[in-house]
Amino acid sequence: MVHQSISELINHYKQGYSLEQGFYKRSDVYETEIKNIFLKHWILAGHVSQINAVGDYFLFEFDKESIIVARTQGGEVKAHLNVCRHRGSRVCLEKKGNAKRFTCPYHAWSYGLDGALIAARMMDDSFDKSVNGLHQAHVELVGGLIFVSLAENPLSLKGMRSNLDVTFEGFGFDKMRLAKQKRYEINANWKLAVENYQECYHCTPSHLEYAKIHALSLSPQKFEEHRKNYLARTTGNVRTDAANYYFDLAKSGEEGYQYDRHPLLPNMKSGGLGGKPVSVLLGNLTSYEGASSEFMLGPVTFFLIYDDHMVGYRFLPLSVDKCVCDIFWFVNDEAEEGKDYDLGDLTWLWDITIQADEVIITNNQLGVNSHFYQSGKLSQMEDFQQHFLDWYVASLKHPSRSGF
Ligand code: FES
Ligand SMILES: [Fe+2]
Repeated sequence: MVHQSISELINHYKQGYSLEQGFYKRSDVYETEIKNIFLKHWILAGHVSQINAVGDYFLFEFDKESIIVARTQGGEVKAHLNVCRHRGSRVCLEKKGNAKRFTCPYHAWSYGLDGALIAARMMDDSFDKSVNGLHQAHVELVGGLIFVSLAENPLSLKGMRSNLDVTFEGFGFDKMRLAKQKRYEINANWKLAVENYQECYHCTPSHLEYAKIHALSLSPQKFEEHRKNYLARTTGNVRTDAANYYFDLAKSGEEGYQYDRHPLLPNMKSGGLGGKPVSVLLGNLTSYEGASSEFMLGPVTFFLIYDDHMVGYRFLPLSVDKCVCDIFWFVNDEAEEGKDYDLGDLTWLWDITIQADEVIITNNQLGVNSHFYQSGKLSQMEDFQQHFLDWYVASLKHPSRSGF
């Protein structure tokens, strides 16, 4: 087969069909994605409850990047590129911990919690430490959620905030605690994992447990009936309309986002076994509504907000054919483990669901690798995935960041 340029590959893109093989396998496509998507958009790094004390830190890593997210002396959350300004060694090797300073293991240059270079052994008097601090990534807190952008000029979150701040307050975004985080490694291109998350066509055949709780697994017509019933009975405590839209905002300098609320099946309250509650209610909620909200910020971070807990999903590429899905379980920060929630009950649904997804996505990649794979027609239950693919293909054309 004649090797196509990325532009030729893009020109062949057929709306309503899955992507051609090259998008999932080619290293030049992957490198362009890293520059145009992962070094440009906001990504969830973690939660403030992971770094409560001064000096607490954790590493946020994907592809070739490593970022130290730390709590400074002044109590701020900062994100430093884990690349020494001397000759580039990784400075911090531990995945998490507490430090007074970060000392490079190679020649012992030493950086403060704010990333400033404090000491550089035996450098001559003309060496200016003040311009040799660790490069800074941009940080934004959404409630207690830590978002990081590696862009030189990050996309604005203002539109999203003014649209959704009241909604976040209702769910108590700044009064949550990370109860559990788990990593699922998937032998597939990152897009297959994101696409899989974005469609519920596979929910009934693959996720029986999910399908018994969520109306989203039903056909669009049946789902609409449940949605109407839900809207008729809702108390109006929680925002029920969709806050739009998403991916194309980047053109105007705004980060893409989306919010929507979906009914659960009748008598289901939350994501526990049998649709049972799993913890105390979030934020200002006073009763169970039999629904859950979906919130997406940037292209690879998603949240599912039940009335009594929130699940975060983050998809990160490790290489062209390997990615991870990190799941975060959040509870009301007043909830006590063992008394108000059981970790096993809290994590049950999405642990088994993502384990099943790992298998589905890996099998998807194996088929896509075949000489006989060709783009296939998408169903009407894959319309959100379709938006993502349109946005993705357009993103490959965007100019990339210029670097530090
Ligand atoms: S590479 Fe870090 S001190 Fe030399
Ligand atoms: Fe799934």
